[in-house]
Amino acid sequence: MRIVIVGDGRMGRAVRRLAEERGHTIHALVGAAENPGGRALAADRLAGADVAVEFTTPAAAAANLERLIEAGVPTVTGTTGWLEALPRITALVERRGGALLHAANFSLGVHLFLRTARELARRFAGRAEFDAFILEEHHAAKLDAPSGTARELQARLAAADPERAFPITSIRAGATPGTHLVAYDGPYERVTLSHEARSRDGFAAGALAAAEWLPGHPGVHTIDDMLGGGPE
Ligand SMILES: NC(=O)c1ccc[n+]([C@@H]2O[C@H](COP(=O)([O-])OP(=O)(O)OC[C@H]3O[C@@H](n4cnc5c(N)ncnc54)[C@H](OP(=O)(O)O)[C@@H]3O)[C@@H](O)[C@H]2O)c1
Repeated sequence: MRIVIVGDGRMGRAVRRLAEERGHTIHALVGAAENPGGRALAADRLAGADVAVEFTTPAAAAANLERLIEAGVPTVTGTTGWLEALPRITALVERRGGALLHAANFSLGVHLFLRTARELARRFAGRAEFDAFILEEHHAAKLDAPSGTARELQARLAAADPERAFPITSIRAGATPGTHLVAYDGPYERVTLSHEARSRDGFAAGALAAAEWLPGHPGVHTIDDMLGGGPE
């Protein structure tokens, strides 16, 4: 496939390396300097591309997605912190008959962790002697907090146990690619379930798998659509 990568930061570079290892061609790697407001994502530059992978910043993502969808390029985005623009982007995808897949976390382990956390919440429902909380930790350069994954975890826990609060604490320090933990703390004991990413390559591999899947699947998708079986 010919892949456009938008964002030449840590994730964009990891996706490029893995894509080349898998035999794909990098049609373009678009950095911030040439792309204010999505300006570089014009139809002539994108002509011949099969799919785009977007990893930029919360402030830049919506304009990039609009330009890519307008140009008819199926687009995978892993950027977090832009979801307030999702209704507008969804309307555009529908109007243009385009394809978008967005995920705050492309690691397979995180999706299994989210499903397991929901089961945990069901088992603790009604046990008022336990307090629940979420802790998430990322490297110092991550711009948004709480993480998109922590918000998703909170939503799924609340859906399984609407009576309980699931407050989130965020830590931004050091170099960790991402850790998420849910804990139930009772008077005599604590139960925790956590996911710890060891490298960005797990996210890059998931984004690339999504890029290979997305062409031919019009509409707005999450990673659950790709994995099958729904969010459970
Ligand atoms: N879904 C997942 O699995 C997953 C995993 C890891 C990270 N993320 C998210 O993905 C995003 C990127 O993460 P990262 O670690 O790669 O961050 P990063 O290293 O800071 O890279 C972001 C890059 O985007 C560039 N950029 C900003 N505006 C742009 C524009 N209009 N056009 C093109 N490039 C632009 C930045 O350039 P400048 O530095 O020059 O501004 C920077 O090089 C973040 O939102 C992060 O939370 C998601």
